Amino acid sequence: MSSVENLKSSILQSISAADNLSALEEIRISSLGKKGSVTALVKSVSELPADERKAAGALFNSLKSMVSDAIDAKKAELDAASLLSRLKDEKIDVSAPVRSLDTGRIHPISQTIDEIVSIFANMGFSVAKGPDIESEYYNFEALNLPSSHPARDMQATFFVPDAEPESLYKTVLRTQTSPVQIHAMLDKKPPIRIITPGRTYRCDYDQTHTPMFHQVEGLVIDETSNMSHLKGCLLDFLRAFFAIDDLPIRFRASYFPFTEPSAEVDIGCSKKDGKLKMGNFGDWLEILGCGMVHPNVLSNCGIDPQKYQGFAFGMGIERIAMLKYGIPDLRTFFDSDLRWLRHYGFLPLDIPNSAFGNSLMK
Ligand code: DAH
Repeated sequence: MSSVENLKSSILQSISAADNLSALEEIRISSLGKKGSVTALVKSVSELPADERKAAGALFNSLKSMVSDAIDAKKAELDAASLLSRLKDEKIDVSAPVRSLDTGRIHPISQTIDEIVSIFANMGFSVAKGPDIESEYYNFEALNLPSSHPARDMQATFFVPDAEPESLYKTVLRTQTSPVQIHAMLDKKPPIRIITPGRTYRCDYDQTHTPMFHQVEGLVIDETSNMSHLKGCLLDFLRAFFAIDDLPIRFRASYFPFTEPSAEVDIGCSKKDGKLKMGNFGDWLEILGCGMVHPNVLSNCGIDPQKYQGFAFGMGIERIAMLKYGIPDLRTFFDSDLRWLRHYGFLPLDIPNSAFGNSLMK
């Protein structure tokens, strides 16, 4: 049996000396492979006299599992070492200066948000943020949408398992950016003038709906702002955003629980020959919702509706990006397809076309 001991120590020695995965694989093949030395030993048991088979079988099998365990352990050791050295070699210095400005692209959603922010910043708005995971209170209740309100069903809501199942309000992924209005009014006193670009979520998926999408909300609260200010503000925004100085804008009476009166805004377009073109062509396209903030919403935020008033608006960012940049399918925004991004994306140093020099913003 000393030959078995010799074999064992020579295999274990070569395993421990192996310094790369292919050397280790060779040892595995030469010992445990079909024609390997250990395999040959295990096979030879059947040729031994009957009274020796049991002891020899146990010995050979224990050798086999010892060799296999040693190979596994060495493999784990070599894998860890190779990962470590790759981590060292492939380290990226994110603070290094950009080598080629031509490689990366800004996603059209980021670009559109930059454009929206720059236009409203010129009008004196600042950017406010709120959480994506919201209490139903902020997403619905405080916005004058009590649980019995039929409009709640229009926004297919994702509910989040509750940390406190007993609580009066469930937790949701916000279905709109409107709850940021509530946070803003609770956090600071009027005058308030904010826009709130951000992610929103609804349980929906087709060519014009994705479960996650972006909206931007606007809110102005002071003692004097009225519907004509709302109209002027949106007119300036839409003309600057689409860079069309005579873009027609139409306000249609509508209903939102959080505004009274409420309106939907259409912009002029042409849909001739199945092609959509923005401008003064006689046709209309719905683009956003707006209105004067409902007195109940002001009261819910501790703001006296006798003294203060204001307006709000909300629109889908993908929708206006699709219209401006001719992107036909909403779902492609979130496919992470590099060819798509190279085609529709923007170079890092592109300046939003509406940031400077637009005649409406001077
Ligand atoms: N939150 C609305 C929606 O998701 C959009 C909206 C409409 C926001 C009117 C507003 C508004 O602030 O006044 O459909």
